[in-house]
Amino acid sequence: MTTDVVMPDPGTLDRAVGILRAGGLVAFPTETVYGLGADATNAEAVSRIFATKGRPLGHPLIVHIGSADVIDAWADDVPPVARVLADAFWPGPLTMILRRTERVPDIVTGGRDTVGLRVPDHPVARALLAAFGGGIAAPSANRYGRVSPTTAGHVRADLGDDVDLVLDGGPCTVGVESTIVDLTGDEPEVLRLGGVAVERLTEVLGSEPRVWPGADGSELAEVSGFASRPPSSRSPAPPRAPGMVASHYAPATTVELIDADSVAARGAALARGGRVVGVLAPHIIDGLPDEVIELEPAGGAEEYARLLYSRLRQADRLGLDVLLVVAPPETGVGIAVGDRLRRAASPRP
Ligand code: TXA
Ligand code: MG
Repeated sequence: MTTDVVMPDPGTLDRAVGILRAGGLVAFPTETVYGLGADATNAEAVSRIFATKGRPLGHPLIVHIGSADVIDAWADDVPPVARVLADAFWPGPLTMILRRTERVPDIVTGGRDTVGLRVPDHPVARALLAAFGGGIAAPSANRYGRVSPTTAGHVRADLGDDVDLVLDGGPCTVGVESTIVDLTGDEPEVLRLGGVAVERLTEVLGSEPRVWPGADGSELAEVSGFASRPPSSRSPAPPRAPGMVASHYAPATTVELIDADSVAARGAALARGGRVVGVLAPHIIDGLPDEVIELEPAGGAEEYARLLYSRLRQADRLGLDVLLVVAPPETGVGIAVGDRLRRAASPRP
């Protein structure tokens, strides 16, 4: 797989802008994953995003903007820390939750008084935002609950003709979604781990940010249980970033998280039982039986993140029954990868 950026020709970019202005949907690349975009100020266009994805209306969308200079058009009472984070990480894989202005329609925020803002770092996304001139509301360009797309081909395979145009910018370079930081409380709180590692936030903030317990996938049973039963006295972490439910990021193939040491034996046992088994690991696994299909290993955490969603889709294409997954080391973006893997491996509804 190459990481070459592809730039659409000027005519295609013009078409994309025309579609956005007319209330249509344009899928476009960002450095994290492909987004399914609509004019953020056009409530009807934004409602088409929800219909196309099959996404519940309560799950708010991120508004993508061209630069930090326009932040005040979209957010009120912007705290100084937001400017600090914007300076350090924009354009880039960081989304900030701020108080919204009147410009942001209810449908974008699920009726909340806050809005998620991000300046993406992909030349095609930036060219599109510059040419369009407004904000683009965009979730990941996949059907609800499925694996996020990291190539234009993934988007077409998932959404087909339901999207008016797919801008192809080549494979995404980060590969997992943005880190989300809520700046509307007393102190910054990380709601979703992603492309900006918590270590980097700590460096810039000068102290470690609070991380919402559901943000790393470690309390998934509790978080997913929250939706189906009333809050008990021992209240689980409420879904602060609605949409962060356990079974997100799941391929059709059953995903099993496993230690590197146990892969060979587990793979052999499953294969003996007649299952089609694959392995995804950060390194070659010794002693794998021949019947077990080894997906090409991705070395460090960053490469693993970049290739993760393609590998999960590959597992489906190969018709695997079970994908045994060894997580990368949980440092840097590897922590976000671990989160996505726990979600992919958690029981489906
Ligand atoms: O990297 C990304 O963030 C990608 C690219 C396309 O930018 N977008 C993305 O969007 O992952 P989506 O919709 O799949 O995930 C957005 C997350 C959801 O979990 C949503 O609940 C949260 O952001 N979110 C958005 N606005 C929010 C708000 N006002 N308050 C709390 N959470 C919010
Ligand atoms: Mg998504």
